[in-house]
Amino acid sequence: MAQGAQLSIRQRAARVLPGGTFGNVSGDLVIVRGSGSRVWDDEGREYIDYLIGSGPMLIGHAHPEVTSAVRSQLEAGTTFFASNPEGIALAEAIIDAVPVAEKVRFTSTGSEADAFAMRLARAHTGRPKILKFEGGYHGYSDYALMSLAPKTSGNSPRPIPDSAGIPDTVRDTILVAPFNDAGAVESLLKEYRSEIAAVFLEPMQRLIPPQPGFLAALRELTREHDVLLVFDEVVTGFRLGMGGAQEYYGVVPDLCTLGKVIGGGFPLAAIAGREDIMAAFDSDQAGTGRFVPQVGTLSGNPVAAVAGLATLDVLSRPGTFGRLFDTGRRLMTALEDILAANGVEGRVVGEPPLFDVVFTKGTVSNHRDMLAGNTAMLKRFNALLGENGVLKADSKIYVSTAISDDDITRTIAAMDVAISRLARDCVAGLLP
Ligand SMILES: Cc1ncc(COP(=O)(O)O)c(C=O)c1O
Repeated sequence: MAQGAQLSIRQRAARVLPGGTFGNVSGDLVIVRGSGSRVWDDEGREYIDYLIGSGPMLIGHAHPEVTSAVRSQLEAGTTFFASNPEGIALAEAIIDAVPVAEKVRFTSTGSEADAFAMRLARAHTGRPKILKFEGGYHGYSDYALMSLAPKTSGNSPRPIPDSAGIPDTVRDTILVAPFNDAGAVESLLKEYRSEIAAVFLEPMQRLIPPQPGFLAALRELTREHDVLLVFDEVVTGFRLGMGGAQEYYGVVPDLCTLGKVIGGGFPLAAIAGREDIMAAFDSDQAGTGRFVPQVGTLSGNPVAAVAGLATLDVLSRPGTFGRLFDTGRRLMTALEDILAANGVEGRVVGEPPLFDVVFTKGTVSNHRDMLAGNTAMLKRFNALLGENGVLKADSKIYVSTAISDDDITRTIAAMDVAISRLARDCVAGLLP
């Protein structure tokens, strides 16, 4: 311990953490505090924050209403395993807002929610396979880590596992199609009709919005083939609007998963969906062959539930999403203008609450198009923004409602500096 005290925080991290990190972002970034739109690192540098905890802090850090709700709950006890009024109220709020939600089950993480949703789909249909999309992220289960980030073309629809340690038998249960290609989905549904339980997707895949008609085509095809449609709304839920992507794009799935925003910065996620499907979680089904046991020590945790409820309450106020979208639009437009003014080839991809630049000439409508993006340029762009006081994820700019007009002005100035520097580096041959 005494020895640990003399080491820098990064040296201490390197001693106790594989790779010196929690596995999320580079261990070079150590954040010690957040408030509103800002975070501070361990060396006192202040950043306008577009990482926002990888999404949950949509209304900003340490929001006074969230903090106050959490403080009161701390006094009343922090976890019970049993049902609690706060978790029940959060389920009610989700059902009020999310079109498909007739029943809700809580988990602690989005990964768990996705793994349970896949199992639920299999249990409901009695079929073994899930059809997902190349580049789609559904957490870290063996089933989900299939063709998330393949660098080369696989033998589609056979997926490429993204991790060591996944049994080959799991690979056989997943089929992969290109995002935004309803024709490919139709062919697979015809070919594997009796084996597919669900078409499982992020309705906005990472940054890539669905092309007009794509989600509606999936809705029609899945109905026609009696296959479930599952939206992973861990990112889009309560971010594209109170009703998430299903409301924003106007296509209602059979099940969805939620996370990030609904926990208000605490570990909480959920599966929500049609009552007849969700009934498999009911222990009355035990012994019928349809029961899907679903238990978690911290599921529906009351501290997380009050943080989520306070967050949803703030978001539900009139004008909140209008302002969020306006902020995002201003940033997206400015970034496009800056790229054009500097002659840097790049596409601003996404929706106003979540977007980024992909340094490519082409349009971006699936994972292959993303792979065409120049990653060295993106890395340099991120680093230059960081040097100029703007923090973002490796390949995402998450907008929060805490971003002020002044933050927008400063962010655009930082983007200007970063892109003009990139342009000079390209001319000087310093970037590939
Ligand atoms: C679309 C999507 N699904 C699932 C997850 C997994 O959620 P968690 O990190 O809470 O396990 C994430 C996390 O980023 C996500 O972006």
